[in-house]
Amino acid sequence: MSKTREHSVGQGPAKRDSFTSSLGMLAATLGSAVGLGNIWKFPSMTGTNGGATFLFVYLACTIAVGLPVMISEIMLGRTVKANAITTLRKLSPRRQPWGLVGVSGVVAAFLILCFYTEVAGWVFAYIIKGISGSVLTTDPEVASAAFGKLISDPIQSLGWQWGVIALVSFIITFGVSKGIEKVTTRLMPILFCLLIIIGIRSLTLPGASEGLEFLFAPDLSKISGTVVLMAMGLAFFKLSIGMGTMMTYGSYFRDNQNIPMTATKVMLADLTVSMLAGIAIFPAVFAYGFDVSAGPSLLFVTIPAVFASMPFGQLFAVIFFLLAAIASTGAMLSLFEVPVAYLCEAKQMSRKGAVLTTALGIAILGAPAALSHSLTADVTVFGKTFFDLFDYLSSNLFMPAGGLCICIFTGWVFGKEKIKTQLSNRHTLSNEGIVKLFTVLVKYVSPILVALVMLNMLKVF
Ligand code: TRP
Repeated sequence: MSKTREHSVGQGPAKRDSFTSSLGMLAATLGSAVGLGNIWKFPSMTGTNGGATFLFVYLACTIAVGLPVMISEIMLGRTVKANAITTLRKLSPRRQPWGLVGVSGVVAAFLILCFYTEVAGWVFAYIIKGISGSVLTTDPEVASAAFGKLISDPIQSLGWQWGVIALVSFIITFGVSKGIEKVTTRLMPILFCLLIIIGIRSLTLPGASEGLEFLFAPDLSKISGTVVLMAMGLAFFKLSIGMGTMMTYGSYFRDNQNIPMTATKVMLADLTVSMLAGIAIFPAVFAYGFDVSAGPSLLFVTIPAVFASMPFGQLFAVIFFLLAAIASTGAMLSLFEVPVAYLCEAKQMSRKGAVLTTALGIAILGAPAALSHSLTADVTVFGKTFFDLFDYLSSNLFMPAGGLCICIFTGWVFGKEKIKTQLSNRHTLSNEGIVKLFTVLVKYVSPILVALVMLNMLKVF
């Protein structure tokens, strides 16, 4: 299989590896969307930004901006059937530098992977530590110390990160259909089942209703510029958009796949996972009186303490970290595929060579992020550690800027007629209404919203 990918350039799309079934396309795309974003970022951001109000803004951003960008990316990728950089270069009119958006996507993939593999490393570590029971304590101080010990130990930090990079590299060398599709199709159903088990456990605790109220009863007066910027960043991060991941996956879509429908299903399923994660976490946090606004350490300090407080807590804690590990794996596969596809196709590397190059790049570039809580803790750029910097730059700059460019490109350069042809699968689907709505969103609504949020971030007003 890897042979076909190696020689795909110049021999036409027929030999290129791709997803083989409709379910596979859905599972892989959902596998990319669902990840630490749902289980680590969403709960911690919702916790620190006021609960339901944040959720409300996040939902609005997902529908008004996230979905149109996701549809655009998949459509552009499928039209050219190439990696993100080549796709944009080929679709650009002469002398227009849209290929740079693809380049920024590959850079962003590296930035994200640098900190993402680290957090995923902690999650894998917590499965083992959960089994041995060493991180389960009802005292948040002790839990915090246990987490601190893990992240401030350079050997453990690097070891877990590199272990995760090796695992993802191993899966991805098998290719798109035999690697990514096969793994995600099996893992996604397991993830849903585990999440439902944890959700039921949390909801049946006495005092769970306070957590539900926190999550679902918004106070719209609390909306602020920061809340909107954070929510928009999360919407991009969650749907893996604005940096070429969905374009790359779209390039493996089959021509008869209904893109708007698949994207909508992915969006809804992804939101469901976030809600389930919220339902699994907040009622339990409130029931045991922990602090919801713990931020990024919510997953590693508060959650273990919450589990340790409940009957059969160790079992549920291990299940919980297992599902987080599964979710992060599907997401990392999609992030890896962005540079890997580019190196294979544009630099004529073998798939193994491309995976190895990407893995080494992340291991080296990611090390300062992994060591951000130990050896490089005092090194700051713009007042942020490498870990925070990579996270901030990708979510609040690269992805929204990339998303904005993709909207403008789709709406104004690619154009109405091609959108119609592509989204109706060459006029075989009767979805004119949806296509019209999409065109208005992508031409006007989404780019204006993203631009406003970015101008606000740059303190223009
Ligand atoms: N969406 C994933 C999550 O929520 C992360 C992810 C995968 C991602 N691919 C991406 C984020 C591309 C941004 C861009 O965990």
